[in-house]
Amino acid sequence: MSLLIKNIKELLQVRDSHISVVKGKDMKILPSIKNAYLLIDHDTIVDYGSMDDIQNLDADQVIDATGKMVLPTWCDSHTHIVYSGNREQEFVDRINGLSYEDIANRGGGILNSAEKLQNTSEEDLYQQSAKRLQKVIKLGTGAIEIKSGYGLTVDAELKMLRVIKRLKKEFPLKVRATLLAAHAIPKEYKNDKTAFVDLVINKMIPEVAKEQLANYIDVFCEKGYFDLEDTERILKAGKEHGLIPKIHVNQFNAFGGVGVGVKYEALSVDHLEEMNIEDIDVLKNSATMPVALPSCSYFLSIPYTPARQIIDAGLPLALATDYNPGSTPSGNMNFVISTACIKMKMTPEEAINAATINGAYAMGIGTMYGSITKGKKANLIITKEIPSYAFMPYAFGENHIDNVIINGQII
Ligand code: NIG
Ligand code: FE
Repeated sequence: MSLLIKNIKELLQVRDSHISVVKGKDMKILPSIKNAYLLIDHDTIVDYGSMDDIQNLDADQVIDATGKMVLPTWCDSHTHIVYSGNREQEFVDRINGLSYEDIANRGGGILNSAEKLQNTSEEDLYQQSAKRLQKVIKLGTGAIEIKSGYGLTVDAELKMLRVIKRLKKEFPLKVRATLLAAHAIPKEYKNDKTAFVDLVINKMIPEVAKEQLANYIDVFCEKGYFDLEDTERILKAGKEHGLIPKIHVNQFNAFGGVGVGVKYEALSVDHLEEMNIEDIDVLKNSATMPVALPSCSYFLSIPYTPARQIIDAGLPLALATDYNPGSTPSGNMNFVISTACIKMKMTPEEAINAATINGAYAMGIGTMYGSITKGKKANLIITKEIPSYAFMPYAFGENHIDNVIINGQII
């Protein structure tokens, strides 16, 4: 099966295979070919170039993309899409004056979602999550990382991870799984957090590693949740079992969590709404990707990750949704990109780099996803007819996507 896309107005994010991260000033460059063609064989990108150079290409199927852009699908490297029910009452409570912290302190928030999930069957949880996944694929997401963390018991965390495994099997997009057992302190451990951290280390990590249910280990490193020592212990144990660190840090408070992430060679440190100069410094000379989640800042009305400061320091940056019922009930990467441009002063080139090639890096799939490169998976967005790629973030809140192609198949 071959598929030729011809007369592409502009083919975006065309890269050599050795480029795996884009950082600093280079983030302002988005390599492209105008008036281009792209050839797919089965699930793989095999050729592309200018229409002027097209050689009498024969294909089983041809798409005419006149007036349209083609780019790699979004790589959403941070989500919690496996959850049960929603939390719109807490949303209303926040409108009426309560803070995210107030709600958590009265037993709402993550603990509210954990109770719902514990009482939901695995089949029901799968069905609820599958609907969300279908929705985000139509919005252009072709690779996604999904976390556990609304289970908080051994059984419920395993249930979440089995649901992620089934999503991986039943859906064509790329799925990576993360164990986020240390997401909140369960009620039963309120006065003995160390016992819960011990449970994570001695029971959950070994079990999950043995059943190969996760690629990554995550911790919510935050005041009132898990401190630096807890984070270190969990990351160390995770690494000993082959799980790569990828952590939640600096969402509400900056107290050195980024340094701990770097010390344990985290693939990414995510959130970063609160950043000290030491956090920026420690990321230099590391292979850790900073990840910003602007939809979370938007929804909670908290500061945006200082993208300019991060990029202007020569660092890379990735963008992801954080899709979850509490802080970001949206998995729309197009909105993320618009918001990054509008609120974080990222240029469209920086935002697209952050959501594709750097997103792929932040989920460890850069060799096969995140750019238009020969040999990579044919996961593509074909836009509607638009005047330029800057029009995508500019005309925010509108759907500019005409077609999504995953593994060479039109969705
Ligand atoms: O990434 N901050 C921690 N975890 C999620 C929110 C969890 C929730 O409120 O349900 C986040 O924002
Ligand atoms: Fe998150």
